[in-house]
Amino acid sequence: MLSIFTLSFLAFASAAMAAARPPLKPWEISDLIFSTPSGRPQSSPYSHLNFTVTDPNVSYLPTPSTTSDTKNSTAPPTTVQCYVQWVWLGKPEDFYGLPNNCSHVDHGRWIFTVTKPNQTDTSDMHDFNLRLVHLVNRDEGFVGEAQFSWGKNLRGICAASGFCQFVIRADALPFYVNQTYTRAG
Ligand SMILES: *[C@@H]1O[C@H](CO)[C@@H](O)[C@H](O)[C@H]1NC(C)=O
Ligand SMILES: *[C@@H]1O[C@H](CO)[C@@H](O)[C@H](O)[C@H]1NC(C)=O
Ligand SMILES: *[C@@H]1O[C@H](CO)[C@@H](O)[C@H](O)[C@H]1NC(C)=O
Ligand SMILES: *[C@@H]1O[C@H](CO)[C@@H](O)[C@H](O)[C@H]1NC(C)=O
Ligand SMILES: *[C@@H]1O[C@H](CO)[C@@H](O)[C@H](O)[C@H]1NC(C)=O
Ligand SMILES: *[C@@H]1O[C@H](CO)[C@@H](O)[C@H](O)[C@H]1NC(C)=O
Repeated sequence: MLSIFTLSFLAFASAAMAAARPPLKPWEISDLIFSTPSGRPQSSPYSHLNFTVTDPNVSYLPTPSTTSDTKNSTAPPTTVQCYVQWVWLGKPEDFYGLPNNCSHVDHGRWIFTVTKPNQTDTSDMHDFNLRLVHLVNRDEGFVGEAQFSWGKNLRGICAASGFCQFVIRADALPFYVNQTYTRAG
């Protein structure tokens, strides 16, 4: 017969097991290319941002008991391509805050947003932050932020025409992004 003591120990043990989830492996960004146009009259006016991001986790949402049966609480590891182009007017800020979709995944979706860099005192026009959201179902998933800075983790090459292309520096690879659970979209 189980004593009260044993029962409360079992309750404690299962709560502790639920809390002791394996840690999340960070996301990994690779193949990032950010280019800006020359600005010459006959050439393309677009800036391009293209990168690959991988979530290596079998993502378990921390609150599976609160998700209804119409929602999934796990998603398999995914790798997506994230691409956007926009008319370059001289600074990334023209594009801050607009959410874009990454390539399709079977469960949930990936969204990325170019945001203002943290150091507003550095005036380099090629610095930017990326906010990444990996939704596992309609409204729950993980969010992470990456900071990109020319000379720090980006290296750039500009042609005589004025066309510039930036990639992640070799010494900043693999480029990890820590993610946290989020409930919003
Ligand atoms: C984005 O990069 C990927 C991987 O390098 C490439 O396959 C794809 O064609 C690129 N997309 C665009 C629109 O340039
Ligand atoms: C992260 O994914 C790994 C497998 O790639 C898995 O062992 C681990 O449980 C996952 N962590 C969470 C919190 O989902
Ligand atoms: C992103 O995908 C969602 C859902 O499929 C869609 O409603 C939205 O219009 C897409 N956004 C863009 C910028 O394509
Ligand atoms: C950069 O800014 C973001 C959003 O304001 C914040 O979450 C993050 O902690 C900041 N990072 C650093 C290194 O200051
Ligand atoms: C849950 O996963 C199933 C496939 O296993 C899929 O058909 C369904 O659309 C997913 N639901 C959500 C809300 O992502
Ligand atoms: C991610 O989190 C780990 C552990 O908290 C920390 O050591 C690491 O510096 C973080 N990485 C990034 C890219 O923020």
